[in-house]
Amino acid sequence: MRPFRLLQITDCHLGSQPGEKLLGLDTDQSLYDVLQLLQANEAPDMILATGDISNDGGVASYERFIHIIERYFPNTPLAWLPGNHDEPMNMDQVARLPIEAHCVRGGWNMIFLDSRIPMEEGGDLPPNELERLDKQLAAYPRLPAMVFLHHQPVPVGSAWLDGYVVRNHEDFFSVIDRHPNVKAICWGHVHQYHNSQRNGVELLATPSTCIQFLPHSDKFAVDTAMPGYRRFELHANGHFATQVSRVRQKVYKIDFASSGY
Ligand SMILES: [Fe+2]
Repeated sequence: MRPFRLLQITDCHLGSQPGEKLLGLDTDQSLYDVLQLLQANEAPDMILATGDISNDGGVASYERFIHIIERYFPNTPLAWLPGNHDEPMNMDQVARLPIEAHCVRGGWNMIFLDSRIPMEEGGDLPPNELERLDKQLAAYPRLPAMVFLHHQPVPVGSAWLDGYVVRNHEDFFSVIDRHPNVKAICWGHVHQYHNSQRNGVELLATPSTCIQFLPHSDKFAVDTAMPGYRRFELHANGHFATQVSRVRQKVYKIDFASSGY
């Protein structure tokens, strides 16, 4: 049986109007570039967007996002979860999204969490989300599981970003530790690649489809690394492979001197 191919894109920061910019970068254009790369290299079974899909939380930005994805992948199921820049009530108004915050595909149990604290950049998992996580993991004890959220549950080595780690990460990991079938935890928010392990669980961050943050910088700094996405090949026996791919041979106009966003 061939593996289930899941593609993760994250932190698109689309505006409600076409061509809006983040630190000088046209976030529509960089998303197009990532989707073109994806279209050339992949045949996804599902696409998942892990938050900060919008920069302003407006309904129009979500409609534009879905329209753009459907232009490249008209028949691929799409799932999403909210980030700190998102407005879930407006996401819910865009009715064409078929996948909810939990699904079983390709013999894998996938759970999508809401780690937002309204009006804050940092993350937290409220008791109802942790309860849902626990229940949805317990419901499929024989299936390998992946957990997705927007915020990082561990530090990535940059002081300014490490202030935004999921506040109750210990509570989160105590749920994870009760379920040995969890294979990976994956997020966005940090706009950079990250890969570490905890108790045999892979901890993975995926680059943004727009600007990248400089790894291991204690102050806000923009990196010259290119926009990208992450591929997962999920085997029904619980093994998986993952790889990040980035746009190449492209020059973007970015305000590298900016001290924040
Ligand atoms: Fe974010």
